[in-house]
Amino acid sequence: MNKGVRTKVIIGNWKMNKTIAEARAFVAGLAAAANNSKCIVGLAVPFTAIAACAQSAKETPIAIGAQNVSQAEEGAFTGEISSIMLKEAGAAFAIVGHSERRRYFHEDDRQVNSKAMRLLSVGLQPVVCIGETLDEHESGLTKEVLSRHLKQSLMEMTPREVSSLIVAYEPVWAIGTGRAASPDDVQAVHAYCRSVVHQIWGGEAASKISILYGGSVTLANADAIAAQPDVDGLLIGGASLSLESFCGIVEKF
Ligand code: PGA
Repeated sequence: MNKGVRTKVIIGNWKMNKTIAEARAFVAGLAAAANNSKCIVGLAVPFTAIAACAQSAKETPIAIGAQNVSQAEEGAFTGEISSIMLKEAGAAFAIVGHSERRRYFHEDDRQVNSKAMRLLSVGLQPVVCIGETLDEHESGLTKEVLSRHLKQSLMEMTPREVSSLIVAYEPVWAIGTGRAASPDDVQAVHAYCRSVVHQIWGGEAASKISILYGGSVTLANADAIAAQPDVDGLLIGGASLSLESFCGIVEKF
């Protein structure tokens, strides 16, 4: 996946949805919209559907990715999937640190960092998720939490590696709730994240890193959020499950 220098990126995150047959049909149905779009279009599909989707997406610009990866290279880690396995199956990217993984599987920033490094080492594009919980949001801790997530999840990366990253700001209170952050708030948070990157990894990394927004994005609010100057694209859960709504969003850009 060549994310370019802040070309808009639209990624669907299917979570634990769709069989292989459903996934294949979706990719075929999305091809025309992706061909007509100026943005980079990705689908983070279940592990079982990666190879089939990558095959179906071959003649299209659609990038297929995973929703997680092991932090280990290989070995006795029952149930895990390595970065090399993802690459072989045809994945171009993987999401790491999604809030559902942080919450249900107790992943922390150190693990997220190891996973992102593992992806970089085999040439896969990491999509690193960060975001504050409702409690943190209401306690005014948003900036503090995001700065910590960025510093720890991207720890020890070079400015060049950070330039190549996609980060997704996903406020936990906005995911699957129908309550997206307002475009102005998203812009303010993204500008803040970019300033943290600037401070630690320098101006070039800050201007090249892609920062997506995720959390209750729909056909109705996608435009206004993605039009913000520091928003480089969208990570879409629920609205990526229906071909009609996902194509509708992709066709806007
Ligand atoms: P949502 O999920 O669009 O359904 O809120 C976004 C995500 O979890 O990535």
